[in-house]
Amino acid sequence: MCGIVGYTGPRAAPETLIGNLRRLEYRGYDSAGIAVVVDGSLQSLKLPGKVQTLADRVAVEWTGTPAEGSRCGIAHTRWATHGPPTEANAHPHFDASGRLALVHNGIIDNYADLRRQLEARGHVFRSDTDTEVLAHLLGSLGFADDPIGALCAALRQVEGTLGIAIVHADRPGRIWVARRGSPIVIGVGEAETLVASDAAAIVAHTNRVIYLDDDDIAELSAGSIEVRTAHNTPVSRTVSQVDWDVRAAEKGGFEHFMLKEIFEQPESLENSMRGRLDPAAGTAKLGGLAMTPREIADVRRVVLVACGTSLHAGMVGRLYFEDLADLPAAVEQAAEFRYRNPILSPRDLVVAISQSGETADTLAAVREARQKGAALCGICNVVGSTIARETGRGVYLHAGPEIGVASTKAFTSQVAVLLMMALKFGRCRRLSREAGTEIIEQVHALPGLVRRVLELNERVARAAASLADARDAFYIGRGLLYPVALEGALKLKEISYLHAEGYHAAELKHGPIALLDPSVPVVALALDVPGRDKMIGNIQECRARGAPVIAVVTEGETTIGGIAQETIELPRCAPLVSPVVAAVAMQLLAYHVARLRGCEIDQPRNLAKSVTVE
Ligand code: AGP
Ligand code: GLU
Repeated sequence: MCGIVGYTGPRAAPETLIGNLRRLEYRGYDSAGIAVVVDGSLQSLKLPGKVQTLADRVAVEWTGTPAEGSRCGIAHTRWATHGPPTEANAHPHFDASGRLALVHNGIIDNYADLRRQLEARGHVFRSDTDTEVLAHLLGSLGFADDPIGALCAALRQVEGTLGIAIVHADRPGRIWVARRGSPIVIGVGEAETLVASDAAAIVAHTNRVIYLDDDDIAELSAGSIEVRTAHNTPVSRTVSQVDWDVRAAEKGGFEHFMLKEIFEQPESLENSMRGRLDPAAGTAKLGGLAMTPREIADVRRVVLVACGTSLHAGMVGRLYFEDLADLPAAVEQAAEFRYRNPILSPRDLVVAISQSGETADTLAAVREARQKGAALCGICNVVGSTIARETGRGVYLHAGPEIGVASTKAFTSQVAVLLMMALKFGRCRRLSREAGTEIIEQVHALPGLVRRVLELNERVARAAASLADARDAFYIGRGLLYPVALEGALKLKEISYLHAEGYHAAELKHGPIALLDPSVPVVALALDVPGRDKMIGNIQECRARGAPVIAVVTEGETTIGGIAQETIELPRCAPLVSPVVAAVAMQLLAYHVARLRGCEIDQPRNLAKSVTVE
């Protein structure tokens, strides 16, 4: 999920690697590390913290030593998924001999089984990571004698996602790479070869790159690149030209982090779902929740606490728990919950939702809930964050680092995780296996649906023009799309500074309708899901006051097209996943309005990524 770089060639590897690692810093990370091959051995340094801290350590410990002049090595920025950001968990990881060093992006789903098998054969692990298991596995498969053979065998055994780069003390000047679901790019230089997880890291050196396909393995030296399939058949992969300038490269070719993260959502959703759905049993596997079916069946009420965008995800989650798990569910603004003397019992499960895992109000709510003896769990993106640690169990989003202050991919992953959690709770209660399997199909369809919404980017950009000159706007929705209306309005406020109100479509006539006139556009979420028919009436009410309506509808919708000023047609989807589909369109809409208004999209005024004050 984070950054990999590698270098073999005539230049000093440590300096080149650290320079290239800096070009991946924009992705966000929590630890950094490096390993180089020197005189038949490996030298490595790793630590939690910044690339600059690693660079300082390299300068202090390697200057004047042979390591400084090494010509071959790998380096990594880690964004923790398995185990908190510590020195032991930082990459590179080593095999049992200590002579193989490996860096990895992604998640090995079956690492626990593999680790048990290796431990039974005497392997000793030093970290909590899934990555270290892969390093030991490769060593045990005879990498030292036959690297490609070991890689092929390992790929047959591991499940999950990986982009990896490996060096071995016995083979100076060589790097091995492989990918499955997590990108690896090879830079073809003049008598030098570079590796990265993202072309941004290498475009300053060469614009000639090879993108590996899934299940490709490659052996690299300064003057050779040999690519093979996981069945050990040689293949040729074309060399492409990258024509980014170096500045654009820092955002992966996108103009803003926010847009990059919006476009990452098919992938971030896949990462949130990976290894967690069991179609045969019609349920979700959420090991981090650490709750037995009996404990789940004993829960009497779910209380979701969060702030901002995470609160909106919680509002969707509440409906999932009620609907799928037959469980009373409440959603609480964390700041209010803490001061309200809430009524809680040990059979209440308080679920704290927080991208950063550091939000002060949500943390205070967790502490209040613990004080009152409630059961606790967390839904966080940042591994090892305070809320993740204090709740002690939960589900990580695995959405990858979110840099844009306006939360996007974290929201859609939160909704997907809440849906999987409600499914699991449902299966421990009244939900049938068949119904569970059907929901799993709907969840599986999400990345593809989101891809199709992203294809509408230009259409949404055109619709944004009808909002860009307004001073005020309303977003309305019902049912599962009501929280999305709130989220759409929040996105617009945050980055375009346009005053927007999210409202329940039926509530509009109880007051705010007084504000409607031809200068106040209304964004109406009217997908073909329960509530659509009533939305038509609500749209008519807005039109009768002269308000221009941008309706977000399901493709093929004929009625609403004749009433609204504009319609944005989204792909047809199951009601349960419609909040994600609609939210992506809302993110794009806010983005384009902000762009038309010339706003600082990635650094909205007055906002911070993580709000650690009450
Ligand atoms: C969303 O775009 C925000 N900037 C903000 O509302 C955020 O969701 C809120 O501060 C909660 O953050 P958390 O998920 O990290 O706890
Ligand atoms: N799963 C690995 C870990 O937790 C890799 C994380 C990454 O992609 O940075 O260490």
